[in-house]
Amino acid sequence: MNGRLFGVGVGPGDPELVTVKAQRLIEAADVIGYPCARHGRSMARRAAAPYLRADQIEEALTYPVTTEATDSQEAYEELLRGFYDQSAEVLAEHLVAGRDVVVLCEGDPFFYGSYMYLHERLAHRFATEVVPGVTAFSAAAAAAGTPLAKRDDLFTVVPGTLPRESLAAELRGADAAVVMKLGRTFPAVADAARDAGVAQRAVYVERASAPEQRLAALDEVDGDVPYMSLLLVPTANAPRGSPGPPTSEAASRWWGSVRQAPAG
Ligand SMILES: C[S@@+](CC[C@H](N)C(=O)[O-])C[C@H]1O[C@@H](n2cnc3c(N)ncnc32)[C@H](O)[C@@H]1O
Repeated sequence: MNGRLFGVGVGPGDPELVTVKAQRLIEAADVIGYPCARHGRSMARRAAAPYLRADQIEEALTYPVTTEATDSQEAYEELLRGFYDQSAEVLAEHLVAGRDVVVLCEGDPFFYGSYMYLHERLAHRFATEVVPGVTAFSAAAAAAGTPLAKRDDLFTVVPGTLPRESLAAELRGADAAVVMKLGRTFPAVADAARDAGVAQRAVYVERASAPEQRLAALDEVDGDVPYMSLLLVPTANAPRGSPGPPTSEAASRWWGSVRQAPAG
């Protein structure tokens, strides 16, 4: 009998934000798959590490490209298609051999998660279940201590890869927003936030919930930011009594206290 495929969201980084269901499935799996960059590190594996068994088969699915430039968008798409085809076949071999496979996915699998490309290649062939996870923007808002959206607020999720003008238009039209996929896109995102008049209440959050988490006001961030970061634009209609987004002073104070906290 074929094994089963599980696309498991493991949350934004903190192993305590892995759901009880995800933990149970990870502990029981025969095979653990996870996409990782060529440097070999995986945020998803790190979040799941306390729940892995030493005798499980691990399949590190290494992206052929990350942020490096390719010749063209077409060449990039082609490389990724090949990568997902090949990765799906690696997992299919385990499934055909009767092994249950858990694919770890950072945050939620169906929210910009790369698991979805394996899902579309495998879910029609094998019994499949998807387990939702805590998204990065939820963890970021919790870390910033700021409510994101309330009452009739229109909440918009924007990929930072959009052109500056489109980003600004989206941010202008929203009551609250999150801009994902920073990194090289950051300077255009910061300019768009200024163009849209939301820069003052924007909060930059890097590696939310991980030990390296960092929060800062937009103006304090230089252009060189990692991919695992986002920009929150909390509701302009902050609930009464809420502290509101952290000022740069509060963010630095918070960051200072984290750096002084004992490791572990
Ligand atoms: C491919 S999307 C994955 C989203 C993920 N599936 C989720 O549910 O949050 C990658 C983007 O998510 C954001 N992200 C993921 N984890 C993050 C974290 N721990 N802290 C801040 N941003 C994060 C960043 O904007 C990053 O560029």
